[in-house]
Amino acid sequence: MRLDPRSDESPVVVVANRLPVDRVPAEDGGGEGEWRQSPGGLVAALEPVVRSSGGTWVGWPGAPGVELEPFEARGLHVVPVVLSAEEVADYYEGFANGTLWPLYHDVTGEPVFERRWWDAYRRVNRRFADAADAACARGATVWVQDYQLQLVPAMLRQRRPDLRIGFFDHIPFPGWEIYSRLPWRREVVEGLLGADLVGFQRGADAANFLRAARSTSGVVTRGSVIECADGRQLRAASFPISVDAVTLDELARRPETRRRAAELRAELGDPETVVLGVDRLDYTKGILQRLRAYGELLDAGQLAPPATVLVQVASPSRERVEEYQRLRNEVEVTVGRINGDHSALGRPAVHYLHKTFPKEEMAALYLAADVALVTPLRDGMNLVAKEYVACRHDERGVLVLSEFAGAADELRQAILVNPWDVDGMEEAILRAVSLRPAEAARRMRAMRRRVSEFDVHHWANAFLGALAMVAEAREAQRRGGERPPGFSPGRALGRPAGGR
Ligand code: F6P
Repeated sequence: MRLDPRSDESPVVVVANRLPVDRVPAEDGGGEGEWRQSPGGLVAALEPVVRSSGGTWVGWPGAPGVELEPFEARGLHVVPVVLSAEEVADYYEGFANGTLWPLYHDVTGEPVFERRWWDAYRRVNRRFADAADAACARGATVWVQDYQLQLVPAMLRQRRPDLRIGFFDHIPFPGWEIYSRLPWRREVVEGLLGADLVGFQRGADAANFLRAARSTSGVVTRGSVIECADGRQLRAASFPISVDAVTLDELARRPETRRRAAELRAELGDPETVVLGVDRLDYTKGILQRLRAYGELLDAGQLAPPATVLVQVASPSRERVEEYQRLRNEVEVTVGRINGDHSALGRPAVHYLHKTFPKEEMAALYLAADVALVTPLRDGMNLVAKEYVACRHDERGVLVLSEFAGAADELRQAILVNPWDVDGMEEAILRAVSLRPAEAARRMRAMRRRVSEFDVHHWANAFLGALAMVAEAREAQRRGGERPPGFSPGRALGRPAGGR
C-alpha cells in the first residue's frame, strides 16, 4: 500500500534527531561529495511522506559542530540543526542514551540521572522546536520522532496552536514503577501531551504512557483519549512500525541476491545449518545472553561446528558511551572463548562481524540463514525480525524471537523465547535447528502475510490518518462546535485507526 492522498493535503514536517541523508565524500576526494539516503527503516518510511507533501525534514547531521544552511537533497527540503560537541555529549550521549535509553528499556542498563544532561536536553529540544516552527507553514502537519525529542510537542504547541502535531515513540515506554524514577517525569509527560496524537509500538506502551500521564499531570483518560485541564483532547494509541515488505521481497528475489546467498554459504564452508544474529551492538539486544546459550549448546555437543555455524553481525553504535565500550569488550571476549574452544583451523564456530552492511548484502545473509536469532532483552519493535520474514520468499528459515520485542505481538508463529532463560533459549535454538521444513514453511507463510499487509506504508498512513482526525476534532472544537462534513467525534477520538 502506498501513501494515502490525505497526507498530501498539507506539507508534512518531520522532526527527528538525525537527518535522512548522509554526506558521502566525492570519490576523487575533491568537491563536496553527495547526499545519500541514510540507512534504516525510519528514513525509508518517512522520506516518501515528506517528499510527496512538499515537506521538510528537520534533524542533526550526526557530527558535532557541523553548521549547514538548509538545503535540498533527494527531493527533500532539509533543515540541519547544529549541536556543539558539549551538547552531543550531554544531550545525545548523556540524557538520550545514558538516562532515557536504559530507563525505557526495562533498566537493562543503569540509568544515570544528571542535572546537566537534563538542562542540555531541554535546550536542544528547544532548538529543534525553533527550527520546526520556522519550517512550518500555517496549519502544517508536524511529525516528531522518538525519545530524543519528547519536549518538542509542547514547545511547539505553545507558540504554534495552528499546527497538527504528532509524536511517535520508536522505543518502549516503561511501566510506572520504572518511569516514576525519572526526576523530570512530569516535564517529559507534559512535553508529549503537547501533541494531538502520541503513537507507540505496542498497546502496552500506550497504556504505560496513559498511566504516567494520569499520575504526573492529573489529566483524565477515557480509553485512548486524554483530556487536559484546559479541555484540549489528544489520543495515545499503538501503531506498530514495519518494513517496506515489497521492496525487500523484490531485493531478495533478484538473481544476484540469491547467487550471493549461495556464495555466502560456500564461504562459510557449506555447513548444514547457518544460524544468524543481526543487531546494533547494544546491551538491550541480548547478544551476550544469546552467545551464552549458544556456547553451552556447543559445550554439551548438542550443536557441532563446522556442521552448524553462527554468524553474528554487530553493527557499531554509540561508541563513545562507556556502557557500549564495555559491552563490546565482553562480547568480543565471549566470542573469543567460544572460538578458542570450538573452532577448527580456518573454520570458526562463530563468525563475528563488527560492521554495517549494505541492504543488498543483508538480504543475501537473511536468505542464507536457516535460523535467525532475534532475542533482545527489550526492544520497541525490532525490524530485523520483520526484514528476515520479508526476505524469505522461499518460505524457508525459522525465526526465534524474544517475547520482549514489540514484533512478538504480531509474529506469533515465530519460536518465542524469554532471553533471560538460558535453558529456554537452548531449547528454542535446538527446536529451530530441527524444525520440519513443512512446519517452518507454514509458520513463515503466516508471518509473511502479516508483514506484507501491515507494512511501513500502512504504518505511516494509519498514523497520519488518525492524526488528521484528532486535529480536525480539535480545530472544530476551537471554531465553536462546528464539525467538518462527515465528521464523527467519537470516531476521531475514541477508536484506534490502524493501531491496535
Ligand atoms: O531505535 C531507536 C533509534 O534511535 C533508531 O531510530 C536508530 O536507528 C537507532 O536507535 C540508533 O540510533 P542512533 O545511532 O541515532 O543513536
